Parts: sequence; C-alpha cells; structure tokens
Amino acid sequence: MSQPVLEAKTDARAITGIDHIELYVGNAYQAAHFYRNAFGFAVTAYAGLETGVRDRMSYVVEQGEVRLVLTSGLAPESPIAQHVHLHGDGVRDVAFTTADVHGAYARAVANGARSVAEPLAMEDARGVVTRATIGAFGDTIHTFIHRGEYQGTFAPGFRAVTDAPPPVPVGITGVDHVAVSIVESEFARWVDFYVEVMGFHESQHEMVFTTRSRMNSKVVEDGSGKVRFPIVAPSGGNGKSQIEEYLAFHRGCGTQHIAFGCDDICGAVLAVRERGVGFISVPDSYYEMLEARVGAVDPDRMARLGESRVLMDSDDWGVLLQTFTRPLQARPTMFVELIERQGARGFGGGNINALFEAVERDQAARGNL
Ligand code: FE2
Repeated sequence: MSQPVLEAKTDARAITGIDHIELYVGNAYQAAHFYRNAFGFAVTAYAGLETGVRDRMSYVVEQGEVRLVLTSGLAPESPIAQHVHLHGDGVRDVAFTTADVHGAYARAVANGARSVAEPLAMEDARGVVTRATIGAFGDTIHTFIHRGEYQGTFAPGFRAVTDAPPPVPVGITGVDHVAVSIVESEFARWVDFYVEVMGFHESQHEMVFTTRSRMNSKVVEDGSGKVRFPIVAPSGGNGKSQIEEYLAFHRGCGTQHIAFGCDDICGAVLAVRERGVGFISVPDSYYEMLEARVGAVDPDRMARLGESRVLMDSDDWGVLLQTFTRPLQARPTMFVELIERQGARGFGGGNINALFEAVERDQAARGNL
C-alpha cells in the first residue's frame, strides 16, 4: 500500500546515500578479522591508541560501496563498552552522506530530532571532514557526514591499513537496505520520524502473517531511493516471533539486519558458507513449491538456487533472490542478508510465509504437526 508523500520538512535530497554503518562490538580487532575472512571485506583504516585516539579502537572494512566501521571501547566506563554491555554487538550509527551537514542537522533538529552532536569540523593535515549527529530508534544514531576535499584515509584520527593480507571479495556491491526492529508501541512514532523529520517517504506497507506470529511492516526511503529502511514491529504478538526474540535480547529497538546487494548471490552464498558462516536452513519442499508461487523457473536457475539454498520472490517489477545468515554474535539479534535484485523493488515478504509453509510441510511429513 502506497501512502501519499507528505510535504518533506527536511530536504531528503540533502542525503545522497549511506556513508558508513558503525557497529559497536566487544572486540573490533576480531570483528574486522571476521568480516574480512567471512565476507571478503578489505580492512582499510584503523584508529586507536597508535593514532592518538585514547578511548576506542576502530577498524574500517570495505567492499563495493559498503563501508563498515567496527568500534570497541577501551575502558569499562566507556559509553561504547556500555552499549555493548546492554545490547551486545550491533549497529550504533547509520551515517548518511550529505553535502550540507549544517542544513541537514538543523532541519532534523527543528523538526523534532534529538541532537547528539552539533556540527563539528574535524581537521588534520589532509583536510576537513564535517559531521553532526542526531538520535533515532533505540540507542541508534544517524550521523550526517561530508568529506568534501578530504584527502586522508576515512577521517582524522584514522590511518590507512596497508599490511593486511588482500581480501578475497565475494561480490558484495552495496547496502541494499537496513532493516529495523521496533517495539509495537513505538512503530508509528518511528515511521513518522523518517517521514516528518527526515523527509523520507513510505514506499510499502504490509502485514506479514505466519501461523505463529503477526508483524507490521512499513518501508521508508529517502528521495534518492538509495537509503531504505524496512521497519518491522510485532503486531498483537505472543512473544514467539523473530522480531520479539530480537527485541528481548537486544533490549529494545535496533537494527535487525543489514542487507548487502550482490550481482551473483548464489556464488556469494556458496563462498561465504564455505568460509564457515551459517545461513538459515531451507528445506527441499521450499523449492518444490517455488514455481507455484513465482511462476516457471529456468531449470539451470532452479539447480543453482537449490545448490546454494537461495530464496526467490517476485513482484510487479521483477524478481529478487535473497537469503539470510544466522545471527552473527552471541545474542540472537543482528544478521546479514544477501540480496540480488533483478528488477524487483520488494523485500521478499512472500518468502516469509513460503518458508513457514515449507517447514510445516516437512513437519507434517514427519507426523509432527
Ligand atoms: Fe531484508
């Protein structure tokens, strides 16, 4: 269901994409190792004691247009360490690229956003990076960042990492979307935040039903279409849905998954699985029911999907291929989605029911339903 676009109070065109996503983690050194070895990211920049940063260690890892910053605090009273203590490893900041940090920040705050950090010009011998930060859902923040003519590595305080072994990329090209888990009572508030404060618009709305749970889902996206947040909340839940499990273990609203776009998802999934990352299990019965849902599938494609256990969905615009890792930290919270779009604009809602039906069909075959 499309909603009429409300008059944007913040100029969403001021945002031109996701600059980076920062995760607060217990051990940034080992997290960088994980993203390099498991997903093929290049470790490109470092900040810490050796670069004059006294309170934290950060590694920047990159692949395609994706840039993750993995940060750990260096003391127990560090807000970074406390964030990890409360939430576990997870996303702290989804940072937006903008040419106008002051304007984007001022408009957001004027429209009701909580200020976290006023505009600040960070300068070193290589130039200036300007940033400002507002609060969003849970303990998540959005930083507006402008690099301008900055010639250094990532930002002042960082230095280039040149001695890491070269990564073996798996073909990740960019951040397709960032999915957000919200408690039921705050669902409308945070959808409104992206529309009213950020000037995004609602592009999709669906209720997702399975036999065991009900979820309310809306998608908000910026004017460029590059920043997309599916926002999901339980709806009259019984405490058993995946969203409720996330909210219980994360201790509130947060980023449920980051979806990385890729050009050859089947190859990417086989490579990532080979490196030891676990994915959701998809029963054979999912593929037996696939053509009844999405229409005829080329036999070669069907074989590739079956081999890599990748899911397929279709909408009015085309098809999408996707799958999901298991949670990537101790708590059953954040995970990664890999997605390949062939025209489709959806997020794979059809797969949720199809997966449940497939699992239940297998259960029934075992006489356990
Ligand atoms: Fe997703």
